Amino acid sequence: MENSNKYIDLENKYGAHNYHPLPVVLNKGKGVFLWDVEGKKYYDFLSSYSAVNQGHCHPKIISALNHQSSKLTLTSRAFYNDTLGEYEKFITSYFGYDKVLPMNTGAEAVETAIKICRKWSYQKKKLKEGSAKIIVCDGNFHGRTTTIISFSNDPDSRNEFGPYSPGFINIPYNDIDALSEVLKRDDIAGFLIEPIQGEAGVVVPEEGYLRQAYDMCKDSNVLFIADEIQTGIARTGKMLAVDHENVRPDIVILGKAISGGVIPVSAVLADDEIMMCIRPGEHGSTFGGNPLANIVAQTALQVVKDESLCENAYNLGVKLRKRLKLIKSDMIEIVRGKGLLNAISIKPKNNKTAWDVCLKLRDNGLLAKPTHKTIIRFAPPLVINNDQLEDCCDIIENSIIECDT
Ligand SMILES: Cc1ncc(COP(=O)(O)O)c(C=O)c1O
Repeated sequence: MENSNKYIDLENKYGAHNYHPLPVVLNKGKGVFLWDVEGKKYYDFLSSYSAVNQGHCHPKIISALNHQSSKLTLTSRAFYNDTLGEYEKFITSYFGYDKVLPMNTGAEAVETAIKICRKWSYQKKKLKEGSAKIIVCDGNFHGRTTTIISFSNDPDSRNEFGPYSPGFINIPYNDIDALSEVLKRDDIAGFLIEPIQGEAGVVVPEEGYLRQAYDMCKDSNVLFIADEIQTGIARTGKMLAVDHENVRPDIVILGKAISGGVIPVSAVLADDEIMMCIRPGEHGSTFGGNPLANIVAQTALQVVKDESLCENAYNLGVKLRKRLKLIKSDMIEIVRGKGLLNAISIKPKNNKTAWDVCLKLRDNGLLAKPTHKTIIRFAPPLVINNDQLEDCCDIIENSIIECDT
């Protein structure tokens, strides 16, 4: 630990304390594995919050990165470049939308979707300018900007960061009656939703909720905006989590795994009727649509199809939940998830909390992180194979039993 402590001390001394990492210092990753500075090998069961769906340092993605990085990295959108149009054609046909607006981080893409939705509501729905409301759900996590945290109800995300931005109406998640009630208003522009609430602890809505919510939005001429930043790109066993209910959102927001976790890339997808409401000069980002990002994202998305990651996530997700449910410990209260986005809820025992379980998992060679003190997310890279998954299930079972007894 001597080596690790050196790095931990450096971060503590010189970095803002806006995170509380598990004490492990990593310096190498390959596929489903990570290594710490002491050389110990771990299974990654977080995948950088679902950004590394294709596995760490995927050779095809890294090769594309290396090739493009020595040729051209950034032009800004002041000029055209020879990668953006190709990438735009690729990603729009991949997801079946007319247009894409490329950005960098997830939060930026959410902000972009909010802006596009508001523009559409004034130009097409003819709401009075400045009146548009967007419906959001309690328990949401859409990022960290001041506008986004304004409609969060997580005190850590929100408190003492006011004044808050108006224009959002919160309703309970997975509550179709609440949605139906707000949709009676005549100033609603959009409904922004995570198909599964990842940060809230992998909260999966009832089957049929998303479909019904989408149909109701259609009836009210309200845009259905799916934040698929964590759930998209094969994570839940389908390319998008909304695909489980055959919903085609008006706006799709993507981030994280769109680049295989290699560089920050995000995107907003919509059809012309919506996207063309944005005109030159009204929105953008210096790095959005840069040549390096375009090449990396195109390669990373191709890998998802070439390696059948949807099917793998679906099949191994079923196995994982089955095994987790068989663990004989009353510390495990709930097992839930879809595909390879899963969580268990831990009831403290013998003074051992979810944090202690994660420390035990780490000692036994698997990295996971608690959220909201009691929930542990299990989301390995989607390239994990059956034997590796079995191995991980053994580690999880043993670790929980060790905490339980
Ligand atoms: C559903 C969802 N939306 C948005 C974000 C924000 O993405 P970023 O951290 O890249 O800004 C996250 C990050 O965890 C997320 O899970």
